[in-house]
Amino acid sequence: MLPDGISKILISEEEIAQGVQRLANQISLDYSGKELVLVGVLKGAFIFLSDLAKRINIPVMIDFAVISSYGGATKSSGCVKISKEPDECVSGRHVIIVEDIVDTGLTLKLSNLAGKIRQAGAVDIRICSLLNKPDRRCTDIRPDYTGFDIPDKFVVGYGLDYNGLYRNLPYIGILEDKFYSK
Ligand code: IMP
Ligand code: MG
Repeated sequence: MLPDGISKILISEEEIAQGVQRLANQISLDYSGKELVLVGVLKGAFIFLSDLAKRINIPVMIDFAVISSYGGATKSSGCVKISKEPDECVSGRHVIIVEDIVDTGLTLKLSNLAGKIRQAGAVDIRICSLLNKPDRRCTDIRPDYTGFDIPDKFVVGYGLDYNGLYRNLPYIGILEDKFYSK
């Protein structure tokens, strides 16, 4: 039985594991012989980052950025702030920003996280997002590595929340329509 508020499972635990393994294989190949730092965007990317990092089979450093967007619970508000930037370990290294989902792209665009990592001396910067909602994109942000393209539905689980809840679900579920209006 599904928890209250979840209408269906969109991506099962097994499908997520396969998608994460595929991304880890590709990243391990692409960054072989390079110094790589994964920068996880908290809070949403914490589970994805951990599973992805475990499956990458080349040396890797891990850091975090905290970007908060405030305003609507199921829509990007357009107001974002970085409350923790990656530290100096990015200097002279290749960086992958690890996101839970890229929806409108406003969070990454307006926070200028990539610009700040570049200023800190990163050699190059790519984006790896577990989920991609291309229908709602209103910026030029495109993930370089995507786990799954998904339809324009509000999803939770595997790190993604609604009002702080559901992050601990092991799958990606669709939130019932009654929680949000389009
Ligand atoms: P964007 O700024 O619209 O690209 O959205 C980025 C952030 O909004 C994500 O990192 C999530 O925190 C949140 N978000 C967007 N869509 C969803 C969703 O379907 N479920 C949960 N959070 C979402
Ligand atoms: Mg997020």
